[in-house]
Formats: sequence, structure tokens, C-alpha cells
Amino acid sequence: MSGFSAEWLALREPYDAAARARELEDELARWAAAREGELRVLDLGAGTGSNVRHLAPRLPSPQSWVLVELDPALVEAGRLRPPPAPEVRVAYRCADLARDLERVLDEPVDLVTCSALLDLVSAPWLERLVGILRARDLAFLAALSFDGRIELAPSHRLDAEVVALVLRHQRTDKGFGPALGPEAASFCAALFSQANDRPHLVRSDWRLGTNDRALQHALVEGWAEAAIAIAPERSASIRAWRDERLEMIAAGSSRARVGHLDLLRLPRPKRRAP
Ligand SMILES: C[S@@+](CC[C@H](N)C(=O)[O-])C[C@H]1O[C@@H](n2cnc3c(N)ncnc32)[C@H](O)[C@@H]1O
Repeated sequence: MSGFSAEWLALREPYDAAARARELEDELARWAAAREGELRVLDLGAGTGSNVRHLAPRLPSPQSWVLVELDPALVEAGRLRPPPAPEVRVAYRCADLARDLERVLDEPVDLVTCSALLDLVSAPWLERLVGILRARDLAFLAALSFDGRIELAPSHRLDAEVVALVLRHQRTDKGFGPALGPEAASFCAALFSQANDRPHLVRSDWRLGTNDRALQHALVEGWAEAAIAIAPERSASIRAWRDERLEMIAAGSSRARVGHLDLLRLPRPKRRAP
């Protein structure tokens, strides 16, 4: 079990879809269209398949996807979903990426992708991943890594304290060692850049309006829980913050912006023979 419910993933899926960086998807699609044969894709931390549902219709077919996921309940829920298109083959694989990354990647693949995963992983794990991507010169799209920006309106006097605690919680171990949390996407971009790669980083923020009550409600509940886990001695104040924010959401007066980054790395152009 990884702690992500199918309900939570379903709640965020349309907001993720709206937030994703279209220019990176277009660039990826142009690269994919210029190559020949089936596009073989590996989706890391796939949940119930949000990434394949979003990306497959935007990429040229035929495609075959392997969706790697730790949680058997999410694998089961994902397997029940129809494939995004008849010419897209989808297979699930239950595996622990913290332990088995090299084994999972040891198969023919053209594009490695993930959504809402990078902020969970540690620096050494990301170094392992980037090392493999570069050594095999694979395309890589990492969508929707939380980058630490949380803006809430109207403001509350405890927002800054709660957000600071949430960001500390983001850096705790999520199964991969101490998590990079908000630093993940820029750390990943730096790893590629240090090796003379040119990754693209583009913002993919959630912009939640006063009608987006369900997602805002779930976020505030989750942030309060995370903040209390870090500072249990502040639980009474944090619960008061949560209750007041939930009232604003229910009253239709609350808006939120949650910062994410999408990262794209494409294979190096092939040199033409002289
Ligand atoms: C925030 S969710 C994102 C899920 C999906 N990519 C999406 O966008 O809806 C992170 C996913 O990573 C999976 N995960 C976490 N640790 C993992 C691990 N060690 N191995 C494989 N998957 C893992 C979780 O079970 C969860 O499904």
C-alpha cells in the first residue's frame, strides 16, 4: 500500500489534465511522429492510469504502454478501466520502483514517463533514474511534480505556518529515502543539464476556483494531516485553521493555486553519416 486512494487520483485527474504543459506534450508528439515503429512507453508510479489516459491520445499510434505501480489495489482498479484507444496496448506491472528500478527499465522502451511521482522520490533514486535515461538516451516526460508553491485566497493568519509544515512533510521518506519534495523537478533538470542535456521545465499549476470545492476540501484535509504529523504540539491551531478554511470552501469564497512543474527530456538528435 502506498497511501494514494483511487478516489483521490480520480478527483485530481481532470485538474491534472487541465494543468499539464501542452507545449511539452506537442514537442514530445513531434519527436514521436518523426520516429518509426511502435512507441513503447513505461509509466512509473502509474496509479490507475491517469497518465496513459491523458497522453496516449496526444501521441502517434501504435503505442504499447507498461504501467508500473506498487499498490495492488490501484493496479486492480486500473485494469478495470478501458484502454484509451483500440490501437493502444496497455499492460500493468506490480513492482516496487524504489527497489526494482533497474529491473523495471531493463526492457525495450522509447519513452519513460511519470505523473505526480517525482516529488516522492529521493536524490539518490533520481540520480539512478537519470543515469539510466541518459545512458540509454531515452525520452522522458515527468508531469505534475509539486514545486512548493501554495497560494490560498482569502488568506488566513496561519497559512504560512501550515504551508511551511506541509513542505517539511513533503521531504519525509515516501518509500524512496528522504523525499526531494518541492525540489524534485529542478533537481532532475539540474542532473540532465550537468550532463549537457537540455531538459525543458514548464509550470503546470492547478488553478482552483470557488466552485472547485471537492479538490480544495481534500487538499486542506490532507495539508492539515501532514502539518499535524510534523508538529503534533500545534494540532489544535492547525485543526482550527482547517475548519476555517473548510468553511470558506463550503461558502464558495475560497480559491487556490498549487504549483507544479512538467519536465521533458528528448533523445539527442542522431548524427547523419558523412
Ligand atoms: C501521486 S500518485 C500518482 C499516480 C498517477 N501517476 C496519477 O497521476 O494519477 C503516486 C503514485 O506512485 C505510486 N508509488 C509510490 N511509491 C511507489 C513505488 N515504490 N513503486 C511503484 N509505485 C509507487 C503510488 O502508489 C501512486 O500510485
